[in-house]
Amino acid sequence: MKISIIGAGRVGSTLAYTLFVEGLAGELVVVDIDRDRADGEALDIRHALAAGGGKTKVASGDYAATDSSEMVIFTAGIPRKPGDSRLDLLKKNVGVMWEMTEKVMQYNSNPLLFVVSNPVDVMTYIALKESNLSPARVFGLGTNLDTLRFRSLLGEYLGVNPAQIDALIIGEHGDSMVPVWSLAAVDGIPISHFGHPQEVLDDIFEQTRIGGAEVIKRKGGTAWAVAMAAAAVVEAVVFDQQKVMPVSSLVTDYYGIGEICLSVPTIIGKSGIIKYIKIPLSDEEKTKFLHSATILKEAIALKINILG
Ligand code: LAC
Repeated sequence: MKISIIGAGRVGSTLAYTLFVEGLAGELVVVDIDRDRADGEALDIRHALAAGGGKTKVASGDYAATDSSEMVIFTAGIPRKPGDSRLDLLKKNVGVMWEMTEKVMQYNSNPLLFVVSNPVDVMTYIALKESNLSPARVFGLGTNLDTLRFRSLLGEYLGVNPAQIDALIIGEHGDSMVPVWSLAAVDGIPISHFGHPQEVLDDIFEQTRIGGAEVIKRKGGTAWAVAMAAAAVVEAVVFDQQKVMPVSSLVTDYYGIGEICLSVPTIIGKSGIIKYIKIPLSDEEKTKFLHSATILKEAIALKINILG
């Protein structure tokens, strides 16, 4: 599969390397506004080809080099600085997203668009509207990243393999994200069975919610977990895995929230979004989910004002 990554910054280059290491792309193209940077990242990865079994053809270039990609991944944009919320980035990144989508669509007729740039839910919505692609073909990393962090932290705390934790975060990939405690389990065993006080579990969620910001505070940006969460989505597409993942996509009929992009459990395969699954939520979870949707609706309205 030919995959192009737009943005060779911290996240884009880490993701390129992750896809290379996991052998997920037959062909990988790296594009950046700073051409030297894109060339340097691609060259650095190509230097490793002999060790990686030579499975991936890695190139760099301008938008023309993305021609006929099966998937284009957007990671470019101004990243969060310490203290910034993801929505603070909205004003800075709306124009960037609009322009990237327009340029990609000049060279690709029916690609899958996978958005990682923040605020990811609004950026996914812009990519969808600007590309005019089917909603099934445009999706964002969303709370798949927060869900990965959540499972990792819960696994650490409970002393069980994080891969066996089945706990979801839905809604905005941002401050209003919602943990679905009512369905959380460890290999089918309800999490309540483990007898941990809810305050402790709530604290683990809080560590998840602020997890990205905590990393940014310490090392200036997030990259490793983002890249692994994104690579898992790419893998689900490449191998048509029909995996259920909370990615961001256009949701039209979910607890009456209207048409916005946000994360709910979604089945993903080689054609993109197969369908999303309406899950039962407790009253409290439903209230929080509707709040998260309202925040995103306001952000989309603001984006419309910015773009005119
Ligand atoms: C994070 C950024 C990418 O959560 O939003 O790491």
